Amino acid sequence: MEKWLITGAAGFLGSHVTEKLISEGKKVIAVDNLSWGHKSFIEERKNAMDFYQVDIRDKDELDKIFEKHQPTHVIHLAALHFIPAAIKDPSLAIDINVRGTQNLLQSMREKAHVKSFWFASTGDVYAPDELPHHETKSVTSPFNIYGLTKFMCEQLINLESKNAPDTKFVIGRLFNLYGARETNPHIIPEILNQIRKQTGDVQLSLGSIWPKRDMVPVDQTADSIISTVKKLSEFQQNIFCMNYATGNVTSIEEMIKMISKILNRKIQINIDPAKVRGVERSHLQADVGALKAFLGKTPDPDLTIGLTKILRDEQFI
Ligand SMILES: NC(=O)c1ccc[n+]([C@@H]2O[C@H](COP(=O)([O-])OP(=O)(O)OC[C@H]3O[C@@H](n4cnc5c(N)ncnc54)[C@H](O)[C@@H]3O)[C@@H](O)[C@H]2O)c1
Repeated sequence: MEKWLITGAAGFLGSHVTEKLISEGKKVIAVDNLSWGHKSFIEERKNAMDFYQVDIRDKDELDKIFEKHQPTHVIHLAALHFIPAAIKDPSLAIDINVRGTQNLLQSMREKAHVKSFWFASTGDVYAPDELPHHETKSVTSPFNIYGLTKFMCEQLINLESKNAPDTKFVIGRLFNLYGARETNPHIIPEILNQIRKQTGDVQLSLGSIWPKRDMVPVDQTADSIISTVKKLSEFQQNIFCMNYATGNVTSIEEMIKMISKILNRKIQINIDPAKVRGVERSHLQADVGALKAFLGKTPDPDLTIGLTKILRDEQFI
């Protein structure tokens, strides 16, 4: 029987992955220490899964879970993800992201016979560029500690793929996810929080509004990850690296204009220098050719549809 172990299951992306797997009737083992995730995100599905409030840095606890459940698929999403938090405490970011990932790889190899391991990496592993980033042709050179920890994990996974030839490994480079159940104070929740406190015309106080991002609907990302894992057995190779994105970019300013149009409310933006990040990428866009070739499709690039959905879910419209 297929068993899916999801780390970071109570987080933003993890709760969508878990929800979809359970709706398909899959057996789910959820691991999260609830440092950033919320139990409420998975509470209503708790009877349909085995939930462990465990830290991925605790190898003994991971060993027990792998030994007991013998998962066939692992989707590894647990991480210190919020970039300012990682910059504030680089040792913690390395400890959770790098040591935690190595623990998982080792437990997997020592205690179970896992068919596939899908890892959440990031577009932040690429050197900044105004062009779409390609998995093999673009230069990888992370310029913040968060991206560097993920790049280190990629190297660990590459190495492990040689030690475990019967397991298939996917390095999934995620771009900017958006949708329901955000845990980190990213730009869309920040904008919506400020709008929620006002009536009529809106005044926003924000940092940089010029960076362009490849915005990806979180629920469709969850679908793409699960579809990827299901397709892996059709291939001979045992290691894959793919961008998970739409291939489109939108600036934060353009996104705010879209929100203004959907809400039919005027929005004025005031730049608060205290909120402007010291170092910021101006452009983060994926080449999605590999994902399209593998799955036959990519997540929907239409941001107006995605923003309308969030505004409806959050009862703005
Ligand atoms: N959200 C994005 O836009 C985005 C972009 C690129 C990559 N990613 C990656 O995708 C993954 C999921 O991101 P997310 O947005 O859902 O983040 P998230 O913070 O909502 O989810 C991470 C989950 O991991 C858990 N966690 C953290 N440290 C842990 C530990 N030591 N042991 C066990 N659990 C722990 C947290 O409680 C949280 O529920 C992360 O690895 C992240 O780096 C996300």
